[in-house]
Amino acid sequence: MRAMATEKILVLIKPDGVRRNLTGEVFARIERKGYVLENLAWQEPDRDKLAQHYAEHSGKPFYPGLLDYMSSGPIVAAVFSGEEVIAGVRSLCGATDPTVAAPGTIRGDFGRNWGSGRLENIVHASDSPESAEREISIWFA
Ligand code: RTP
Ligand code: MG
Repeated sequence: MRAMATEKILVLIKPDGVRRNLTGEVFARIERKGYVLENLAWQEPDRDKLAQHYAEHSGKPFYPGLLDYMSSGPIVAAVFSGEEVIAGVRSLCGATDPTVAAPGTIRGDFGRNWGSGRLENIVHASDSPESAEREISIWFA
């Protein structure tokens, strides 16, 4: 039997993560756990690209603020690979809301509510193999 194709994930260091010099820290945690860096790019996405990326959230109350937040500075995009890399990296990231994300996770250790009215949480990680494939094609066209 052939081995399954190795799973991939898109990881974004969001503008707050880049601004706060946390890019290396986040990638180091993912690499130290054993996942493999496959691709890396510094990007300044236009609004169209961000709208494609966050299509599932279009129409939600936080969507305009989310696009403003994601447009507030450069982003570093990366692809990592490994068996169950999606579950593994999402576990390293922690809960969406950094105020309650567990200590020891990226969002729990480095994130907080800064009073901007937006949920700024340093990192994005794809949530399924289908989203990973879709998102990788957006950021690494
Ligand atoms: P991500 O997609 O960025 O990896 O985060 P996630 O899966 O943990 O969270 P998701 O539900 O997909 O939400 C995407 C991003 O939208 C912002 N958000 N704000 N209630 C709010 O104000 C709210 N909810 C979500 C966050 O930046 C979240 O990461
Ligand atoms: Mg998500």
